[in-house]
Amino acid sequence: MTALSAGPVVTRVVSRERKGSSSPVVADTTEGQWFLKLSGASQGVLPLVAEIIVGALAEAIGLHVPARTLVALPAGVASDDPNDELRDLLDASVGCNLGFELLVNARDLTPPEFARVEVTTAARVLWLDAVVQNLDRTIHNPNLMIRRGTIWCIDHGACLPFHHDWGAVTEQMPHRPYDVPSHLFAWAADLLPDVHAQYAPALSREVLREAVAAVPDAWLGSDPARRREGYVAFLFKRLHGGWR
Ligand SMILES: Nc1ncnc2c1ncn2[C@@H]1O[C@H](COP(=O)(O)OP(=O)(O)O)[C@@H](O)[C@H]1O
Ligand SMILES: [Mg+2]
Repeated sequence: MTALSAGPVVTRVVSRERKGSSSPVVADTTEGQWFLKLSGASQGVLPLVAEIIVGALAEAIGLHVPARTLVALPAGVASDDPNDELRDLLDASVGCNLGFELLVNARDLTPPEFARVEVTTAARVLWLDAVVQNLDRTIHNPNLMIRRGTIWCIDHGACLPFHHDWGAVTEQMPHRPYDVPSHLFAWAADLLPDVHAQYAPALSREVLREAVAAVPDAWLGSDPARRREGYVAFLFKRLHGGWR
């Protein structure tokens, strides 16, 4: 994915998503409807950073993820939902936010369907989640949607947990094992070595760099260039020996 640039501008907030924890909204924009995660949410912008980077990596290994774009939210935008907390959140999110392609007619995957996901897809999702340390793909919180038989990976905001405390990152940290048994697709773990052999080459240093380049400077602290190098270095180490 090339660098995200601020394109669509919100004209109206249509509805609030009540299922998730981050209060995403559906918004009309100058370029159609988008599913928006807001930069003023209590979790801050780091979940949005993780969404951009991991979304790009998921695409690079052929998984389906909603397209992403930066969306500008003007001050005082109209909202069809009169909720006060939403208004506060919109006020706190004026400026740049992350828009996702709205998956019309998709629905959350249900427990009886988990075990019916094709094993190579399940293993690929498990492998990527192990690489990016996704804590949010469990039977209680699958973060997968389905539409006409296609599985969509959503909600990568809890990936890359190391970025919450760069000062604590050590040489060894990328080599921490992933908690495979807690993952929704732990049953596909036997395929991990094969999946790694097939897909690790697709996540080259250049692909990692491009994924990280799509994050806006404003979300990367006081030294964005250094931060970008930090993400690439961590993920490269994790890919080459750290994910197991
Ligand atoms: N791109 C999308 N299009 C349509 N609905 C979505 C999209 N992404 C998420 N959803 C719906 O919104 C819910 C919450 O989204 P999610 O990304 O999981 O946010 P949270 O971080 O709040 O858990 C999902 O369970 C799903 O039902
Ligand atoms: Mg979620």
